[in-house]
Amino acid sequence: MKLVTSLVMLGLVFADDVRVHVSNREPRQREDSRLLFNFLMAKPYHNQKPSRLGSYSFKNCGDPTKEELLVNQLTVSPDPVPSSGTITVTFSAQARAAVVSPVKASLLMKKDVFGAWIPVPCVDGFGSCTYDDFCQILSKSSSCPPPFIQNKVPCKCPIPIGNYTLPGISIKLNLAIIPPGGYSVKFDLEGATAPVGCYEVDFTLQ
Ligand SMILES: *[C@@H]1O[C@H](CO)[C@@H](O)[C@H](O)[C@H]1NC(C)=O
Repeated sequence: MKLVTSLVMLGLVFADDVRVHVSNREPRQREDSRLLFNFLMAKPYHNQKPSRLGSYSFKNCGDPTKEELLVNQLTVSPDPVPSSGTITVTFSAQARAAVVSPVKASLLMKKDVFGAWIPVPCVDGFGSCTYDDFCQILSKSSSCPPPFIQNKVPCKCPIPIGNYTLPGISIKLNLAIIPPGGYSVKFDLEGATAPVGCYEVDFTLQ
């Protein structure tokens, strides 16, 4: 579930004890970040509709000729994504080289605010955060969900060379803490010797 939550959608990696690179910021900047974060993540005051409705998209934002983990397909339905309920995920990827620790992960999370994409700052391990080793985060998550095991898709590093497919599996979501709206999440994964992959997922949460 942790892998899915992270890879599939939100970069919702609540990494309690993973150090996040915000320490070199000035206190003033940190305060500004928190204010912006609180503004972007506030629940709407009334039942306001997101300015985008739907339009899920997935794209590679790196160099597909060099990436170790080439994700060919990542689809999520329904669109818009319900913040709680069951979604269907289809995934296929090719590991052209074994993916091993450490994998540096940089997340860029943006929220649609009346048509403009505003970056969500990294606050308390949520938002546009950077992690020294994504493999370490995966290794802390609970056991691999049954559909992953059934389809022989690894949830932890190392990911051996091979082709991996999840053929439309059902996943229960509970993202009630995240306000509805349009989101764009870019995951840039960098291995010690080669790029692991860069993927951007845009979706609307309802
Ligand atoms: C994975 O799939 C690609 C193309 O779809 C193929 O060329 C390659 O041989 C496959 N690799 C393995 C390990 O099955």
